[in-house]
Amino acid sequence: MPEFGWIMQSIKTVAATDDSNIRMLRMVVDGIPVPALIIGSDERIIVANETALDLFGQAVIGRHYILTMRQPGLLDAIEGTLRHKQKACGRHIITGPSREATYRVTVSPMPEDQVMCVFEDITEQEQVGAIRRDFVANVSHELRTPLTSLLGFIETLQGAAKDDPAARGRFLTIMSREAERMNRLVRDLLSLSRVESEERVRPTTPVDIVALVAGAVTALRPTAAAAGAELEITGQQEPLVIPADPDQMVQVFQNLIENAIKYGATGGRITIDLRRDDTDTLRLGPTVVIDVIDRGEGIDPIHIPRLTERFYRVDNHRSREMGGTGLGLAIVKHIVNRHRGRFRIESEKGKGSVFTVILPQN
Ligand SMILES: Nc1ncnc2c1ncn2[C@@H]1O[C@H](COP(=O)(O)OP(=O)(O)O)[C@@H](O)[C@H]1O
Ligand SMILES: [Mg+2]
Repeated sequence: MPEFGWIMQSIKTVAATDDSNIRMLRMVVDGIPVPALIIGSDERIIVANETALDLFGQAVIGRHYILTMRQPGLLDAIEGTLRHKQKACGRHIITGPSREATYRVTVSPMPEDQVMCVFEDITEQEQVGAIRRDFVANVSHELRTPLTSLLGFIETLQGAAKDDPAARGRFLTIMSREAERMNRLVRDLLSLSRVESEERVRPTTPVDIVALVAGAVTALRPTAAAAGAELEITGQQEPLVIPADPDQMVQVFQNLIENAIKYGATGGRITIDLRRDDTDTLRLGPTVVIDVIDRGEGIDPIHIPRLTERFYRVDNHRSREMGGTGLGLAIVKHIVNRHRGRFRIESEKGKGSVFTVILPQN
């Protein structure tokens, strides 16, 4: 918070009528770029700047401050400052239909027993902090599950199952599956952090996207066949070169096709459709549109907006059974963003899903 000492000084030097005093106070709050208001010694709001009026409504002038700011902590701070002429801090939280906002409020004493409140919007800072804490908690939890199981089996192998070759074989199989899971998780976390750190650097390598998608499909045909599904490519067959990061693009289609196999194989056929769109409806210039279409069970619409969040899964247990980390679509979204493209998910329960990647041609 800036120091308002000079303001106080200039206010003190104004020996004038009430009217010019209020004009002066209004100039003071108008000079502050965030919501600010001044409360008089009678505990009523005397002046407020435009942003404060937007926040509290035009009717706040003349109203008792308790009717405007209702958070107990903030009220205590204002009361304390009114009484003891000492600077204090409080929080003001707004919960509206469209937005929830948190303000840090600096309450400063002013001449003539007045008090100034300056509101600093710290919503974003708070959200970033909360997201980071959630992420660390999630990672720890995801790692701890397989680790606990590994430790348990090691203990059993050292003790009870020491001389039981049949049990040993069985346990080692499970242990290797758990270690694989940890390996995949760490690999996905690393790849997510790499994509994030490069997100502002647009890739420039010329890549034939048609060949790249065909390669990803060929590599996954055996997996699809094992799950009882068949992969087909439709649409554009001629080469189409776009600026891209080839390794990351492979990851995108691997993830999407693997998901279609894991969660949509019951539908049998999985289609990867590739086409050019030169109409510029998205203001990206000419694009290439790749749809990964499955005819499986589909996704309930309530889940769709959250699927690209890290660790978000429709069915945690099922995803883990399938060896999923819950990070695949988060990685896809970041890679597509880095390519200045768009990523869309459409699905109908019982009918299947379409995951669409739209990339600029140049
Ligand atoms: N083709 C699909 N059909 C139905 N559900 C899907 C499909 N693709 C993804 N999902 C859902 O989205 C979730 C997140 O996908 P993803 O981020 O790739 O994580 P993971 O596959 O590791 O669980 C999956 O757990 C699954 O519930
Ligand atoms: Mg996945």
